[in-house]
Amino acid sequence: MNGDNVLEFEYVHHAFEDGVMVLHDINLAIRPGEIFCLLGPSGCGKTTTLRLAAGLEECRYGRVLINGKVVSDGRVHVPPEKRGVGLVFQDTALFPHLTVAGNVGFGLSALGEEARRARVVEILRQVGMDGYADAYPHVLSGGQQQRVALARALAPDPKLVLLDEPFSGLDAQLRSMIREEMLAVLKSQGATALVVTHDPEEAMYVADRIAIMNLGRVEQVGRPGELYCHPVNPFVTRFFSSTNRFSSRVTDGKARTPFGPIPAPAGLGEDCKVEVLIRPEALRIGPAGSAPRPGGIGAVEARVVTARMLRRAVFMHLCVGDFDGTHVHFHARDPGHHMPAEGEMVMVTLDPEQTFVFKAQET
Ligand SMILES: Nc1ncnc2c1ncn2[C@@H]1O[C@H](COP(=O)(O)OP(=O)(O)OP(=O)(O)O)[C@@H](O)[C@H]1O
Ligand SMILES: [Mg+2]
Repeated sequence: MNGDNVLEFEYVHHAFEDGVMVLHDINLAIRPGEIFCLLGPSGCGKTTTLRLAAGLEECRYGRVLINGKVVSDGRVHVPPEKRGVGLVFQDTALFPHLTVAGNVGFGLSALGEEARRARVVEILRQVGMDGYADAYPHVLSGGQQQRVALARALAPDPKLVLLDEPFSGLDAQLRSMIREEMLAVLKSQGATALVVTHDPEEAMYVADRIAIMNLGRVEQVGRPGELYCHPVNPFVTRFFSSTNRFSSRVTDGKARTPFGPIPAPAGLGEDCKVEVLIRPEALRIGPAGSAPRPGGIGAVEARVVTARMLRRAVFMHLCVGDFDGTHVHFHARDPGHHMPAEGEMVMVTLDPEQTFVFKAQET
């Protein structure tokens, strides 16, 4: 592949001692300065992929390259300390017997005493920990320890930083603050980062590009908006948000839904079985009898079963009569604060942009 990429996985498969394959045919190329997220459910192989990049696991099938050079391919195995990468893991332990400055300066032995001290001061300032140089880790909060761990990883100015769920031990507020700071520091250093997370919102916030993984495979790679707006399969669609799911068939190039027919992707023939996934926010709600929303499909009356206020939106459980006379239940998330009463009839139109039609999986 392209020698300008900082980190590459080519045809990587991986099995642990038990022989079970946990990674299948991973091909990724992470570009200079990019913040790249590995996203996926627990057990899908994110940490294993990161450990292969770090050199903590040997790559025996396929190869891993850093800056165009093979670092692991079954014959060569460059050890972690020779790869010039910074590592931050979820449970990154600071050295308890060293101060914050001692921890951060640990990997800077190549520098003279003065240069090392200056670098420690500079990087602690960047992560907002400049007042803590002489403190010992046990007096720091979890969030402060995370910042020191990040400073320690970044102090030698690595061009590649690998972070495994670096914010998962933090509460929501601290998490977003440290995430923001980390992004600023990474960008200001021009570092390339591979960040593991299982939180889609975090990945969308942090990443320039995301690889979404499932059962040891990469399902799709793209910018956050691409994955959200153009998911290639039901797994990717559902990973980003809950969905309403309907089974249907193609008629005249369209998939039937309780809200009306919607265009099926090219290549799905007449009568093909399909799976229709509709995001709750695709269902636009208006008063019964009102005109359909512009750009929407269908105008179907539905009965409100329950409605709940959730911060910036109202989440509704609705019931609509399907084309064959049965009742279908679905969820809608309507921005704003209009709460319909339970039992009230409302008008539903469908936003086709948030609706996805896939060939039904054979079971
Ligand atoms: N040392 C090991 N020996 C055997 N199997 C392992 C080992 N480490 C991980 N696995 C298995 O490999 C698969 C992938 O694990 P991995 O830790 O990479 O997942 P993950 O995506 O990081 O999950 P999580 O989000 O829970 O951290 C899992 O099935 C796991 O049980
Ligand atoms: Mg993991």
